[in-house]
Amino acid sequence: MCNSLKSLCLISTLVLIGCAENPSSAGGGFAGNKVGHFGYGQPATQEQIAGWDIDIRPDGLGYPQGSGSVEDGEMMYETQCAECHGSFGEGVGRYPVLAGGMGTLTEERPERTVGSYWPYASTLFDYIRRAMPFTQPESLSDDETYAITAYVLYLNELVEDDFVADKASLSALRMPNEQGFFRDDRPDTANTRCMSDCLDPASLTVHSEVAGVVIEEQTTAAEKQTSAHPGAQTYEQFCSICHKVGVGGAPVVGDAAAWEPRIASGVQALIDNAINGVSSDSGVMPPKGGFAQLSDEAVADAVRYMAEESR
Ligand code: HEC
Ligand code: HEC
Repeated sequence: MCNSLKSLCLISTLVLIGCAENPSSAGGGFAGNKVGHFGYGQPATQEQIAGWDIDIRPDGLGYPQGSGSVEDGEMMYETQCAECHGSFGEGVGRYPVLAGGMGTLTEERPERTVGSYWPYASTLFDYIRRAMPFTQPESLSDDETYAITAYVLYLNELVEDDFVADKASLSALRMPNEQGFFRDDRPDTANTRCMSDCLDPASLTVHSEVAGVVIEEQTTAAEKQTSAHPGAQTYEQFCSICHKVGVGGAPVVGDAAAWEPRIASGVQALIDNAINGVSSDSGVMPPKGGFAQLSDEAVADAVRYMAEESR
């Protein structure tokens, strides 16, 4: 049930949690215990949370008070960053290059820097604040972080030398490669079997959208032939009228519970009944569904298809 009815599952899970947390119904030793599920630990204080909650969003949420100019940042950068990243952000030895590389992303050897690659200025502020200088992370004050951020942007020629970084100016700044990022829209693995109004398999195309490149592979005629079940078309045209919704007691295709006892007697028995007709308390299945013009083989294929779709 949980597979087919996710929402129901959620509801029942919520109800269960509700029961467990209700002291009157819990009855066990942890009933009424307000401190953590297992009876130890304590809730984090606002101050403790603030120590961890330092991420900054592109829209500006999370920036601290303060500001810093390109001018202020120059000396700080020179003394605290240049030994590894170079005075112009060119990178010393194997330390990362921080500036340049504009327009190289589509080249054979793209140079990914803050300026050429990073989508948001907030990432730069956030990264410097939490991780740099390499040997003393989180040692910079907010004003210092603003100033050094301004300077790294200046090294990338994204701001003028009179730029002052603060919450407003950094949120407003658009980075050159912002549009180069997008949400991965490939479908997840979850899928539901289509039982009505389905796409014609022949019309399906395989496509993947990675890095904005759309690759469409038209299925070849030969592939179409094998991908569609030989009984699918007969079923759709002649049998689905009753078997899609269960007209007159017809077992619904896809309803495993309805088909299991029937399939248990063997698919050949089902084929015989479909060709010759069958009736029971649950209803009457006319020979070949009432379509005498159908060949035995076509009916047999349709039955195999229906059985496969109903396991
Ligand atoms: C002792 C050397 C050292 C110093 C000093 C240093 N960094 Fe770094 N920096 C690194 C290393 C190493 C990395 C790569 C870290 C990683 O990938 O985990 C890095 C990464 C970075 C990056 C990310 C680069 C990228 O494209 O991924 C930025 C931005 C940065 N540093 C800025 C600064 C700033 C600003 C300062 C001065 C406040 C600074 N660094 C000081 C060594 C240093
Ligand atoms: C007019 C409605 C109707 C049509 C059209 C119809 N069926 Fe049925 N079918 C039924 C009913 C009702 C039953 C249930 C009969 C029973 O349980 O005794 C049934 C049962 C069956 C069974 C199960 C037989 C068994 O032994 O349990 C198969 C297989 C089957 N149909 C195949 C087909 C195929 C193949 C077609 C199309 C060629 C088709 N049906 C078209 C109404 C229909």
